Amino acid sequence: MKDFIVTPWEVSGDVDYTKLVEQFGIKLIDPNLMKTIEQISGSNHPFLQRRIFFAHRDLDWILNEYQQGNKFFLYTGRGPSGDIHIGHIMPWIFTKWLQDTFNVELWFQMTDDEKFYFKENLSLEETHQLSYENALDVIAVGFDPKKTFIFSNIELANTLYRHAARIAKKITFSMIRATFGLTESSNIGQIFYTSMQAVPAILKSLIEERNIPCLIPHAVDQDPHFRIARDVLPKLGYYKPASIQCIFLPGLKQQSKMSTTNGTDAIFSTDSAEEVRKKVGNAFTGGRGSAKEQKELGGTPDVCSVFKYFFMMFILDNEELLSVRNECLNGERLCGECKSILIEKIVKFLRHHQEKREKARSILDKYWISEKIDLKQLVNKK
Ligand code: TRP
Repeated sequence: MKDFIVTPWEVSGDVDYTKLVEQFGIKLIDPNLMKTIEQISGSNHPFLQRRIFFAHRDLDWILNEYQQGNKFFLYTGRGPSGDIHIGHIMPWIFTKWLQDTFNVELWFQMTDDEKFYFKENLSLEETHQLSYENALDVIAVGFDPKKTFIFSNIELANTLYRHAARIAKKITFSMIRATFGLTESSNIGQIFYTSMQAVPAILKSLIEERNIPCLIPHAVDQDPHFRIARDVLPKLGYYKPASIQCIFLPGLKQQSKMSTTNGTDAIFSTDSAEEVRKKVGNAFTGGRGSAKEQKELGGTPDVCSVFKYFFMMFILDNEELLSVRNECLNGERLCGECKSILIEKIVKFLRHHQEKREKARSILDKYWISEKIDLKQLVNKK
């Protein structure tokens, strides 16, 4: 088997998610837990049924607290290093479902500091500017402005830094080296950074001066950060943050993770219909060498990136998905047909997203919080 690597900065190779669960020490979301979610929410999101959100830490605990009236808040984030692609949007769609279903706040961190430390070619001004641009995509997903707080680490530093300092004092370089594989020659911003990513997990507790459970929806590569947060925060008197973790939306060319550095592999939130047509047109499929062969032998949907996109985002109805799969296996359906359907679905999705994204410019201040705002008052107001 090919080797794979998953760290917060690198996802490569063929990711074996079962192995990852073992390596990371996270838990699979089992049928019992799924049933609990269904009981509480009255519904079950396809991303859960399909194991796209597949793993967790302490989700059972946080649901139990919720049932007893101890409400949690959500925390997630984005490293603003470039444009948003649909692989980024996927977990946010689920996060919105969590917000709506449990009627809870979302605290959203833009890590402009992180991307400055980790990206050779980006200035701090650029990553900071990108945090506003990326926030438009977050807002376009439809989060409730009354319950959603978006902030940049650089801008909210006065609030965040004092708590990051308390956290950083409890983390040694050898913990960081072991968890992230950083080395003696890594810049010291990188070594410090994980303490900034831990702070939002206690931000609401700090503002309200009581301990409030935190649930973090995130892609599985972020787990190492929260492993450290879970180790340190109880030492400062807070709950361990719980998490619910998803797999990556693969690239269109067979990669494990859609990547921004590979422009033709990713569908960006601002892509035109023409660009979508071109990219999906060139996607890797499970098709045979010729139409004749495919009609005889059938296609192989399980390796097909177009089918993966149906599965993960664009055909959420189980019966519809199954019939696409069967028709492919039986040779009744050729790749061109699937590609046209996917193009149509992505274009429709993006048209809607882009409209909301433009509208977001004028309502950004309903979501954005900065040092100028007294956080305590803000919470009372909302
Ligand atoms: N480090 C993340 C990234 O590079 C951004 C991030 C910050 C985040 N806080 C988070 C992601 C919480 C998920 C959950 O994208």
